[in-house]
Amino acid sequence: MSTSQDPEVRPGRRTVVTAAGAASVAAVLTACGGSKEAADSGRVKQTDGSEADGSRADGGGTVLAKTTDIPEGGGKIFTRQKVVVTQPTAGEFKAFSSKCTHMGCAVSSVTDGTINCPCHGSKFDMATGSVKVGPATEPLPATPITVQDGSISLAS
Ligand code: FES
Repeated sequence: MSTSQDPEVRPGRRTVVTAAGAASVAAVLTACGGSKEAADSGRVKQTDGSEADGSRADGGGTVLAKTTDIPEGGGKIFTRQKVVVTQPTAGEFKAFSSKCTHMGCAVSSVTDGTINCPCHGSKFDMATGSVKVGPATEPLPATPITVQDGSISLAS
């Protein structure tokens, strides 16, 4: 038996699989960790300086953001919750599914009054979710939210 076949020298199958698994996890974490949007989507600074990570507000649903986090005339996409929140006019907040009704891509931006899908160019009205530009033919479904004390939460 040669030295390279000695079981004490060669890594066991379990060791190799574990190492490969750890590498995969690291790759996934690296891929996710580079997005400020992804980081922002699940963590919300609270007024007391603490952070919420998809926690529940008192008696309400998952806290998404503070109202001040949503630009007036724009919006913000919450990747983890698959929701896009918009503020079409000052103090008016809307939320929609971030899954494009054409073929299911995630919308990627809110600009010039529309929620935009990068896959085939569909654009949805940021106030109503209706289709402004196809190929999508169905509006983005509304997502119920509550706005209370400066916080926007998913309705429970
Ligand atoms: S999946 Fe959004 S435009 Fe096709």
